[in-house]
Amino acid sequence: MQSRSVLFVLDKNEHSCEIIRSFTEGLEFISEVKLYSDYQKAYEDLKQAENPIVIMDITEEAPELGNIVDNIKLITSKIIITSLDYSTNTIIKALRLGAKEFLPKPVLKEDLIRVLTMFASISADDEDYSQSKIITVYSNKGGIGKTTIAINLAMELARVTKDKVALIDLNLQLGDISTFLNLNPPFDVNYVLQRLIDKDDEIFVKGFEKYKDTSLHILSDSSYIEQAGSVTVQQISALFRKLKKVFPYVVIDMSSSIGPVSLKILDESDWIMFTTIVNIPAIRNAQRCLNLFRSRNYPNKKVKIVVNRYMENDEIKIEDIENTLGEKVYWKVPNNYFTIMEAINKGVSIAEINPESNISNNFRDFATKVSDDIIEQAVIQYRSQI
Ligand SMILES: Nc1ncnc2c1ncn2[C@@H]1O[C@H](COP(=O)(O)OP(=O)(O)OP(=O)(O)O)[C@@H](O)[C@H]1O
Ligand SMILES: [Mg+2]
Repeated sequence: MQSRSVLFVLDKNEHSCEIIRSFTEGLEFISEVKLYSDYQKAYEDLKQAENPIVIMDITEEAPELGNIVDNIKLITSKIIITSLDYSTNTIIKALRLGAKEFLPKPVLKEDLIRVLTMFASISADDEDYSQSKIITVYSNKGGIGKTTIAINLAMELARVTKDKVALIDLNLQLGDISTFLNLNPPFDVNYVLQRLIDKDDEIFVKGFEKYKDTSLHILSDSSYIEQAGSVTVQQISALFRKLKKVFPYVVIDMSSSIGPVSLKILDESDWIMFTTIVNIPAIRNAQRCLNLFRSRNYPNKKVKIVVNRYMENDEIKIEDIENTLGEKVYWKVPNNYFTIMEAINKGVSIAEINPESNISNNFRDFATKVSDDIIEQAVIQYRSQI
């Protein structure tokens, strides 16, 4: 049964507020409509509301908007943003602020009812992130920097977006995340995988450890190597389905081997951060692996090439790599052995060692680019619907 929602309408224009109220008359899943021109006041009232839905207008620029939406996001993810201006930039701004849906003004009744009906069908604790992205860091060669990149990209995605990010160690035999971040989790990835088939949601959420005061949730490697062999492709599918319901961003670290389970992980990921370094054997290996990806008909832009340990004065240039691989390089992570080793030895992320080092800045920019590109994809989808 649908639970009833209170609709909070935040709009400085009284007439627009009234239009929304009139459109929602008679909807049995809306118990009450509250109108606000003072957004801060709306936020104070939202704190007491049960199962709220927010529709907020951003036509007028206001510097405090970002803060207010960040706070509202902690209460509900059911946020619709409206604006008279529906240029691509405004839609990007709305999605970046945290809107689940963007509706251009004047809002059409059928659009509003479609979105409200969709929101109402999602119970408060069963969110469904339709735009959720599973990003897997992969290389078919060991020791290339997969774990380093997965951890620091996930950490910065959490900081940049303030959204829930999951980091999962699917390097089932030789996982490193718990060591790199000095974690001693009560549950691990095997424990969760074994219980997924039971559809035990509580265990699923309990398996993740929240990292300090961030929005990063980690599912760590198992200490029991012998369990790795029993993981099935069905468990991977079930895990991914569940992840997409709970987290808007998922980052996966995995082993460099290619077997049925690894292929399942790669096939079902939305994006693959395919990592290589600048040397001939690594690039040759990368070439072989890209051929494998091509043979699996992955969609355009699914595989993104990341060059790790990059140095400006390398003999082999980025253009050489691009020419050899036949693909553009998506991102370069600089070589910075000392900062990375210090982070690993202290069991923390790179940003916690030195937030201003070249490599910390690089991971922040990397995460910003990833989230911008995800938003851009969503905007293309929106524009095709408007
Ligand atoms: N950008 C970088 N600059 C300098 N050193 C790096 C960089 N990235 C990774 N390293 C170092 O390379 C080593 C291997 O990194 P990491 O463990 O992340 O690789 P991996 O691909 O996950 O390895 P495995 O295949 O064993 O899982 C680590 O000692 C790490 O400190
Ligand atoms: Mg690793």
